[in-house]
Amino acid sequence: MMRTRPLKVALLGCGVVGSEVARIMRTQADDLTARIGAPVELAGIAVRRPDRVREGIPAELITTDATALVKRGDIDVVVEVIGGIEPARGLIRTAFEHGASVVSANKALLAEDGPALHAAAEEHGRDLYYEAAVAGAIPLVRPLRESLAGDKVNRVLGIVNGTTNFILDRMDTSGAGYSEALDEATALGYAEADPTADVEGFDAAAKAAILAGIAFHTRVRLDDVHREGITEVTSADIASAKRMGCTVKLLAICERAADGRSVTARVHPAMIPLSHPLASVREAYNAVFVEAEAAGRLMFYGPGAGGSPTASAVLGDLVAVCRNKLAQTTGPGESAYTRLPVSPMGEVVTRYHISLDVADKPGVLAQVATVFAEHGVSIDTVRQQGKGPGGAAEGGSAEGGGGRRGGGDASLVVVTHRATDAALSATVQALRGLDTVHGVASTMRVEGE
Ligand code: HSE
Repeated sequence: MMRTRPLKVALLGCGVVGSEVARIMRTQADDLTARIGAPVELAGIAVRRPDRVREGIPAELITTDATALVKRGDIDVVVEVIGGIEPARGLIRTAFEHGASVVSANKALLAEDGPALHAAAEEHGRDLYYEAAVAGAIPLVRPLRESLAGDKVNRVLGIVNGTTNFILDRMDTSGAGYSEALDEATALGYAEADPTADVEGFDAAAKAAILAGIAFHTRVRLDDVHREGITEVTSADIASAKRMGCTVKLLAICERAADGRSVTARVHPAMIPLSHPLASVREAYNAVFVEAEAAGRLMFYGPGAGGSPTASAVLGDLVAVCRNKLAQTTGPGESAYTRLPVSPMGEVVTRYHISLDVADKPGVLAQVATVFAEHGVSIDTVRQQGKGPGGAAEGGSAEGGGGRRGGGDASLVVVTHRATDAALSATVQALRGLDTVHGVASTMRVEGE
């Protein structure tokens, strides 16, 4: 039976996402009412700048006093799209205390304080939903939390940051350097004025922490996630990846250890084969590959950012939370019963692409190979290439004697079989100590094979 008394929603933040949430609530009101079983009413919108023109939003709904709004006592659902840690965290807690469930898009807050917020929601009998916190419009949190609740997820591998995917895609397709590609991303509005959170991998790391926790039913803190950004990725890395039939992507990788007793979570650039589905994820799109024991391999793909896509995820949560309210129940809370520890990066096992600047003389290859062998790292392929005029690598094989150039320098590209990150780090450190190794130009992991 349809309830006529509306469910009241408080919106915290009315920027790119918040304004879209308000617009869809207005334009889709009848459908939302039918799907929920009661009308939903926007009861107030807390903003920092009340004077800004907001088309279609009644001025009387706007307030600068977010605390008073969430304390009103008649609010059923608080939608938090402010972002950041405070005041969002305090407002969410206050909302729970004053009768409201919460829908949030705040990945940084969920990654930093998810368990405590879940506990607060449970204590007060409220919902805490956050589909929009990871990969924008792509349904990922609910599939992991609900659809795959009967399966065992072993791996989550994804592109969860659109800005960096756009930059790497531009570097790959146009041959642009990192700075040039970043400038283009900024000009097109993909990268923010301060791109640090995206390009240094903080945004992706927060999403990885959230995904790993849900996928493995454990707790993964932001600090548990190994993080490397894309600022060190060069045109030479991209060219080298191409020669191997690969492309470079910033990946978030969450894995259950082979013995099932621990998990790892990491974010770093990696080479993946062009045949891997993630290689075809272009521009600012996101995609996440989930490997589960019974389901097999699942791929989730779509827009990972932007006002409308993120609002879609928020609205989906809003409908779910409103339905729960009407049914006088709550949805699934935190599931962290496995208590699996998070292993350090050194225990991660994968393959590596190492580019070395070496002296081009007899015996160097043998010396380098010996260092790998001494650290238990097995070499898959070696390619020697000379240095082009601008330092750019050129093709040529060691076996064929190619790559000999004036100045006595050559670039040696080694691709390994699977080894631990600790063994690889020790190998690289030892290589740096060789007189014949003038530098380690880059080390990049090779994934997805
Ligand atoms: N800045 C993020 C991205 C979107 O580029 O994907 C919000 O998480």
